[in-house]
Amino acid sequence: MLDRSKSRAAGAAAGAFALLLAGLTLLDVGRAQSPASGKELFEKRCGGCHALDRDKEGPQLHGVYGRKAASVESFQYSDALKKSKIVWTDETLERWLTDTEKLVPNNDMTFHVEKSDERSAIIAYLKHDSGK
Ligand code: HEC
Repeated sequence: MLDRSKSRAAGAAAGAFALLLAGLTLLDVGRAQSPASGKELFEKRCGGCHALDRDKEGPQLHGVYGRKAASVESFQYSDALKKSKIVWTDETLERWLTDTEKLVPNNDMTFHVEKSDERSAIIAYLKHDSGK
């Protein structure tokens, strides 16, 4: 008697746990596909140095997609980036976030993003923010 109700309770708990797991998995999938994930990654990875609307250690990035490199007037860029003549597109941003030093030797951004899917999500977010 006692044993049976115990095992029923355990069964119910396992069922609830399975449901919870399924729910979490669904949530994760939803998040990976929504533009929020690029926003979250931007805030997590870039937010220490960049904001969209004001300069921090790095320049503000609102509208950066499609813009010429080093064109925020209020920001003190490295000479290297000022001379680079880069326009920020999918291709140049991908190369920048993979290895800034390889794209523009002696630039001032000492940071890169390891994972390709994170780079894509962040670039898509910046592109969307720039209305492109
Ligand atoms: C440790 C601080 C730091 C982090 C973290 C960082 N950046 Fe930067 N970023 C900079 C600095 C400093 C510059 C200016 C580089 C220069 O003048 O050579 C810059 C420049 C840039 C530029 C060129 C902007 C322009 O106006 O030409 C882009 C694009 C950029 N960062 C994107 C990102 C993204 C996206 C991330 C997150 C994945 C990121 N950065 C993370 C410091 C950082």
